[in-house]
Amino acid sequence: MSESDPTSAPTNPDGAPWRERTAPWPLRSAPLYGPEFTRDPLAYYETLRRDFGPIAPVTLDEKGTFRGYLVLDHVYQLEVLRNHGQVWARDSRWYRDLVEGTLPLDHPLVPQIAYRRHRLYADGAEHTRMAAAGNQALGELDLVRVRDLIEALAHQLIDAFLPGPEDQPEDGAESEAPAAPAEELKVDILADYALPLPLLVMMRLAGMNEDSALATGTAIHELLSGGPEAARAAAELSELMAALVAEKRDRPGPDLVSWILHHNRDSGLDEHELREEVWLQIVVGRGASTTWTCNTLLELLSNDDLYSDVLANRCSMDEAMNHVMWVNAPVQNLFGYWATQPTKLGPYRLDQGDMAIVSLGSSGMTMRAAGLDVSRTNNAHLAWGAGEHGCPARDLGRLIVRTGLEVLWDRLPGIELAVPKEELTWDLPYMARTPTALPVTFPRPSAEPKDAARWTRDTTPFTSSPPRPTSTEEKERPSERPGRLPLWRSLVAWWPRR
Ligand code: HEM
Repeated sequence: MSESDPTSAPTNPDGAPWRERTAPWPLRSAPLYGPEFTRDPLAYYETLRRDFGPIAPVTLDEKGTFRGYLVLDHVYQLEVLRNHGQVWARDSRWYRDLVEGTLPLDHPLVPQIAYRRHRLYADGAEHTRMAAAGNQALGELDLVRVRDLIEALAHQLIDAFLPGPEDQPEDGAESEAPAAPAEELKVDILADYALPLPLLVMMRLAGMNEDSALATGTAIHELLSGGPEAARAAAELSELMAALVAEKRDRPGPDLVSWILHHNRDSGLDEHELREEVWLQIVVGRGASTTWTCNTLLELLSNDDLYSDVLANRCSMDEAMNHVMWVNAPVQNLFGYWATQPTKLGPYRLDQGDMAIVSLGSSGMTMRAAGLDVSRTNNAHLAWGAGEHGCPARDLGRLIVRTGLEVLWDRLPGIELAVPKEELTWDLPYMARTPTALPVTFPRPSAEPKDAARWTRDTTPFTSSPPRPTSTEEKERPSERPGRLPLWRSLVAWWPRR
């Protein structure tokens, strides 16, 4: 957190002394944890709305040390996210409870908000500078080709968890016996599909070769698993990103990292910031896409109307995904927006350094309150965030999730939840609410489809032509045809090892 001279009063990130506290934490607050919240956050937000109004003071632990003001109403959410008066900062060094020690540094939730020097923690002109090259690089993607890449990887992942032809039961055509019911197969969609698919896509778009993708995938897996290896994995990831940036500087290719470097001629990101931008795109891109895929599949398999409408093609996969943005958003709550000056939020007065938590997951309340269910077609939800930090990769994110779901839906007819929805458990229910596993069953697909060749074709997953070298010195061009990369069979086979 902010460095200070021990002999003087601590200063805020602007370098000024903190303003005196005049707005004590409210006497009444509510927990944002516990079984009731975890089971059905949307119903819980409705209870909070009834009990507290548009803003609810909440705590995330029993001691009440991790605390903030949960913003439940759409209008106030937009006010904070758009931040017209420059009242709010994303830079967590503004979190005064942390600076003053009310919230201990070793609190298990602190790593979730610990400051890093990248665009998520930057505001105003600094954010514009940090975001420019990454956003311009995203704009170079050829989404038609990216769709081909996603589709090919999705098929490979499904092939990896389906039994091969050698495991097919004997053909019973000659037998007199009545045909046995189709064998049921069981798979954890989270581990075997929703987790690896977006990660493989993002690593491929970043232009990684198979070795560096394998190392990065392993490190991200260790990081997400937490535990003693997490810190080492984080350091390793940082080195891998540095090596990737260095490689692309020497040999630009048709990939996001080369395009970031190309556009960085105008933004001036230093080496550390470049590494962080690449890391951010891969990790954030993977996380939200995984969660949205799981949450949409879960909704399809537990909401009969939605299921039959998608099956009968009365509702598109896009519309089913849009519905989920209202009722079970991938990013539930944004931690945090810190007040850079004393301010008012609804009925509450906040001190400089107090935290607002924007509840993207509570969007569905707006729908229910209006008494209309237009959630499939109305996309006024805030699940992508808004304002300068709103997601810059909506088209890409939507494409990854939609393509992944469409391929799954096509290839696994008869898919069902393997356990009742109520028995699922959830990771990070207050942040990116993801099931810890999503077990499904489906009848063993009977035979190789006639157009099986479609699934193994050699795709050309390049997303654009490579940028021209960034220096005036002419660089050697890669000798292979741009973007011709091997299909990642070994990576796909490795993944389910988790
Ligand atoms: C697929 C579903 C996705 C959802 C629901 C989603 C949602 C979000 C949300 C809510 C934010 C705001 C975060 C905050 O303010 O703290 C955000 C930011 C961001 N997202 Fe996405 N995202 C998705 C996919 C992706 C993908 C595929 C990428 C890949 C590049 C990506 C890159 C980013 C980046 C770089 C930011 C930071 C923006 C900034 O601060 O300038 N997202 N996303």
